[in-house]
Amino acid sequence: MRSNETVPLSPEQSASAAAETSPRRVFVKTYGCQMNVYDSQRMADALAADGYQPTDTVEKADLVLLNTCHIREKAAEKVYSEIGRLRKKKLGGGLKNSDVLIGIAGCVAQAEGEEIIRRAPSVDLVIGPQTYHRLPDVVRRARAGEKVVETDYAVEDKFDHLPHPQPKIVRSRGVSAFLTVQEGCDKFCTFCVVPYTRGAEVSRSVAQIVAEAETLVAAGVREITLLGQNVNAWHGVGVDGRQSGLGELLFRLADIPGLARLRYTTSHPRDMDDALIEAHRDLAVLMPYLHLPVQSGSDRILKAMNRRHTAADYLRLVERIRKARPDIALSGDFIVGFPGETETDFADTLQLVRDVGYVQAYSFKYSPRPGTPGADLENQVPENRKDDRLQQLQAVLNAQNQSFAAGLVGATTDVLIEKPGRNAGQRVGRSPWLIPVVVDEKAGEIGDIVNVRITATGANSLFAETN
Ligand code: SAH
Ligand code: SF4
Ligand code: F3S
Repeated sequence: MRSNETVPLSPEQSASAAAETSPRRVFVKTYGCQMNVYDSQRMADALAADGYQPTDTVEKADLVLLNTCHIREKAAEKVYSEIGRLRKKKLGGGLKNSDVLIGIAGCVAQAEGEEIIRRAPSVDLVIGPQTYHRLPDVVRRARAGEKVVETDYAVEDKFDHLPHPQPKIVRSRGVSAFLTVQEGCDKFCTFCVVPYTRGAEVSRSVAQIVAEAETLVAAGVREITLLGQNVNAWHGVGVDGRQSGLGELLFRLADIPGLARLRYTTSHPRDMDDALIEAHRDLAVLMPYLHLPVQSGSDRILKAMNRRHTAADYLRLVERIRKARPDIALSGDFIVGFPGETETDFADTLQLVRDVGYVQAYSFKYSPRPGTPGADLENQVPENRKDDRLQQLQAVLNAQNQSFAAGLVGATTDVLIEKPGRNAGQRVGRSPWLIPVVVDEKAGEIGDIVNVRITATGANSLFAETN
């Protein structure tokens, strides 16, 4: 008998062989910001290299990972209700097998650590954002019966150890991709948990970022959004050996052939330096859209929040950016009801919103977070007052959003075609200002950038015809 000749297997043998070779599956659910979206992808990549295939059906999973957010109380509580639902399903036989593992990653994992397993004993593993490269090992240990909590800050750089995404996986994720260039925060705004859950500010190297961007573009990506909790605090040593900031990095990335669009988020007003503003003036690939959170329009509240700039500083900055790039669209984040906020402070926020004019905004009621200085302040604002202010603010922001969209009707613009539309014969693309644009499928293929004329506005999208 030749050594590579196979002997037919009995039915039982072939069933067990199939079980051994059929891949394990991981289901990842992502909460919170874009950095979590990116991290979920990198975790899936690390597990793919270890034999786990992604599934979008929780019932088929051997491993369920919740990538969590701790930013507001509601966000954190959602995790525990989801764990409860999973536990019920697991006990009731609703999941693939009774030994499905439940893992908690992300900012709740980092903030609460072992406490999660005490409160929810059905959780098998807890892993913080700084140690995702150890995930395959953590899963193996959990599979062997250990309850694993991995939340120490790793001494090694996780990005040196995480595998690059495979071209096939990149393609399956579409023509727009995220790329984290910076993590963590040293700013310590008094309301915010991020400095505690994500640690100190760390920038990835230019070489690492360029290599990852090139991998993405080679696999068909046309648009890259650089991510960081404080993305414009990114700094590194450029090709010329000099210290450079995000502006210089954008110039370097703009040279990658095939890369058609660049964006970045989230930026802090204090880190908008001249080079970055020049990048908006000089780089056609840098989209005329900027997310620039201000949180409040009251100097008293900005000071209490430790934002370290005034409303006038912010308005001056907006003016400089608009001078460099007159068609830039701005979006922002706002918090209403920070401790001590009076009606006059809130009126200042409304005034700032009117002065700036936002095309898009995220606004929140202040949520006291354990361990942050804001939570210990007296004069917390009653919930009903927060509700009332949020409603007023959102009315102004929504009106601005709608008037921006209405003002686009009749205009021509470039659209990056991203995916099939909901109706047959349609495709959905992305405008420079992120608003989705519905076009006829004849307009172009996915990945094409086409010039269109906006004809109408929809609920959250625009309609357009090719020129
Ligand atoms: N690094 C970004 C913000 C990251 S958190 C920045 O500095 O702008 C995203 C948004 O969540 C914040 O901009 C803020 O508006 C909101 N947020 C953060 N902590 C909050 C809290 N305790 N309560 C309510 N909203 C909060
Ligand atoms: Fe949070 Fe402020 Fe840091 Fe933004 S800059 S992540 S709001 S502490
Ligand atoms: Fe939430 Fe963490 Fe992002 S707290 S907003 S997931 S950095």
